[in-house]
Order: sequence, then C-alpha cells, then structure tokens
Amino acid sequence: MRPNRFTLRRTPAAVAAVALTAALAVAAPAAQAAGTATPAAAAVAAPDIPLANVKAHLTQFQSIATANGGNRAHGRPGYKASVDYVKAKLDAAGYTTTLQQFTSGGATGYNLIADWPGGDPDKVLMAGAHLDSVTSGAGINDNGSGSAGVLETALAVSRAQYQPDKHLRFAWWGAEELGLVGSRHYVNNLPAAERSKLTGYLNFDMIGSPNAGYFVYDDDPVIEQTFKSYFASLSIPTEIETEGDGRSDHAPFKSAGVPVGGLFSGAGYTKTAAQAQKWGGTAGQTFDRCYHSSCDNTSNINDTALDRNSDAAAHAVWTLSSGTGEPPTGEGVFSNTTDVAIPDGGAAVTSSIAVTGRTGNAPAALQVGVDIKHTWRGDLVVDLVAPDGTAYRLKNSSSGDSADNVVTTYTVNASSEVANGAWKLRVQDTAQQDTGYIDSWKLTF
Ligand code: TRP
Ligand code: ZN
Ligand code: CA
Repeated sequence: MRPNRFTLRRTPAAVAAVALTAALAVAAPAAQAAGTATPAAAAVAAPDIPLANVKAHLTQFQSIATANGGNRAHGRPGYKASVDYVKAKLDAAGYTTTLQQFTSGGATGYNLIADWPGGDPDKVLMAGAHLDSVTSGAGINDNGSGSAGVLETALAVSRAQYQPDKHLRFAWWGAEELGLVGSRHYVNNLPAAERSKLTGYLNFDMIGSPNAGYFVYDDDPVIEQTFKSYFASLSIPTEIETEGDGRSDHAPFKSAGVPVGGLFSGAGYTKTAAQAQKWGGTAGQTFDRCYHSSCDNTSNINDTALDRNSDAAAHAVWTLSSGTGEPPTGEGVFSNTTDVAIPDGGAAVTSSIAVTGRTGNAPAALQVGVDIKHTWRGDLVVDLVAPDGTAYRLKNSSSGDSADNVVTTYTVNASSEVANGAWKLRVQDTAQQDTGYIDSWKLTF
C-alpha cells in the first residue's frame, strides 16, 4: 500500500469533490444510450478519383511528348505544352493560376501554381508534383502520374465545389529532374510571412510504377498518418519510403520548415520477395524498369497503383484542409461521451463504441483517444477490447504515478481486427482511495 498518499494529496474538500463527481457520473448517463457512437468531426469525405480521368491526362502528356521530340523536359517545347494543358484545365475549373518563370541551364522554366479561391488565407495546404520529364522519354510514370493525380484531385475539388477551412494551393514544378530547381525557386522566393502560412506540402512523384510498391514518406507525423490510415482502411500494407529522402520537390519545403509528406510507388530499387508477397508484382525486378528511360510511356503504368494513390491524394487533401489539425480523421471518428463511473479498487467497467460502415480491417495505427478523470491515475489498468474480444493493453497500473487523469491518444496496431463491430474501452481501478470515471473516448479510423 502507499501509506502517505492520503496525507500527501487529499484535503477533505478534495475528497468531497471526488465523491460528488463520482455520484454525478453514476447518475448522469441516460441522455445518450450507452454504446451509441456519434461520428464527431463532420469532415466531408473525399470523392473517389476516377481512374479514367487520370489516365486521360496521361494520354495527353504522351501525345504532347510524341509531338515534341519524345519528351517533356525542361527547356524543351514538350514542357511548356504540358504546362499549357494543365493550366487550361485549371482555369476552366475556376482556379486562379500563376505561371512562375525561372532560368536554369540557360533555358526558361515554369512553375504552375493554382489557388482555389476561399479558405483561411493564413492556413494554406499545398499539394504538388513535378511536371517535367527527363530528355530520354515522355515521363509518364515519372512524373505524369503525380501530375495527373494532383490535377484530377484539383478538378475534383472544383466539381465538389469543396470549401475547406484552409486555403488550397496546387503546384506543378519545372526542372525537378535538373535538381529540384523549380520547387526550390518557389520556396526561396516565397516571403517568410507567406512561408509561415503553409500548414503542409504533399508531394506526388511517381505514383503509378508498373511493379508498384506503396511507400509513404516518413516526415510530418500527421500527414504520414493520414496516408497510412487511408491505406490501412483498404487493407493495403504500406512501407516507409527509403529510396532517397530529399530526392523530390518536398525537400525544399522541408528545409524551410514546412511539414511535408507524400506517396511513392518506387523507381530503381528492386522489389523483394516479401514485397511481392504483400503487394503482388514481380520479385527481383525494379519497381519501375523504365525509370528515366525511353519506355516510360503510357504502357509503363500500373492502373491499380495509380488509382489508389490518386484516391489517397484526394483523401489527404480533403482531410488535412478541414478541421483543427486534430489527429487525422480518416473516414471518421467514432466516440462515446457517456460518463462511466469506475468503482474504487473494484471490478473492471467498459464503455462501448459501435463502429459501422467500414470495410475491411482496422488501421495498423488505430488512434484511441482516452479521457479518464481520476485522482490517482497509477491505479488504472486500461485496455482496448476489439469486437472479437481481443484485448490490447493501453496502460498498466503503476502505484507511484500519482498524477491526475489519463488524457491521451494511444496508437494500436489493430490491423488484424475487423473494423466493424462493438469496440470497448475497459478500465479497472486496482487500488482503493482514489476514484474517477471514463469521461469520453474515441476511435479514429
Ligand atoms: N524524380 C525522382 C528522381 O528522379 C524520383 C525518385 C527517386 C523519388 N527516389 C525518390 C521520388 C524518392 C520521391 C521519393 O530522383
Ligand atoms: Zn520524378
Ligand atoms: Ca482507487
């Protein structure tokens, strides 16, 4: 036992207050039936991005290359023609577009910037892709894929007339293949006051690799989690991108202190047997055997990867541009706000959340937000119990931890659990004298 705790921490008033709180906690429920989950953050779900539309842009990029000496490289006519194509689509959709010129290697280069009118001007979310190819080919996977995915996401914003809390800005960079020239030019020429308004930059460079992997940049944790939760909700395993951090247009933003993230389906690295096992495709072959070569044409695309990554891009743009910057809401937040009293040194109690409308398994990084009011949290043992009864220990008791309350978010690998069903938070108070109650908890998918 802990002999000094009462004298250390408790005044009679505090005891009375705790007793009153506990009494209210027991008496209060009823307003909300136990087990009802209220979708919290009412974020609008992103639309599905039509693969056919993304591929139609790739067909246009291919035609542009074919008509212009076989490439869309910086300083060549195929680059400017690509810019004109993307710009015309955005102008017609209601974007405010800007061409930013720069010079590299004696040739004029262009960044295309497209602002979606509205949103908080002091909170800007950006998404971008490099639009130039190398000189040796049409650059359909590198990086027609990212360019088309971002373009179609921007057009989906317009079709939905989406009005997010944040201001949305899309970008297509020039001269990436010469060393991130365009994106660096943009960041270097952005006044510090404008730079500080950027809440995030999402990069899409090579998202349709023919022997695809599903790689998420390991950078800003909220952006990373937003992508990971999306793929987890579809039961698609992801890995951290390791084929060269800093090798694309997110690098200048990251150097300037902007939170960054992105997706990548692989370039010159070889797919391992384990990767082929989980993603399909061919082990022992590179992710993109046409990387930076003449066969990077419209045949050099994995439609499934292009489709999923484009949908993930839209998901991230939708999710990260609305709400307060809370943990990513993914497809939804389910919560139970009914108080449940926790008996002092007694039996475990549970609070239940019914998850519905999900397909497949729970995320590999399920966020479990817990708000337990208690006057000595070391008393508490807390578990998350999956619908099939599997318990995940969130917190053990530790008699010396005298602090109040458990208000935190736990991350649980719940990828082996079916998402739909009754999830429970189970709390047991293992020692006497201090008491409390489950105030609320939530699951973020
Ligand atoms: N355009 C990039 C390049 O040629 C492709 C690339 C390689 C990449 N490794 C990457 C893009 C990692 C993003 C992340 O260098
Ligand atoms: Zn590239
Ligand atoms: Ca106790």
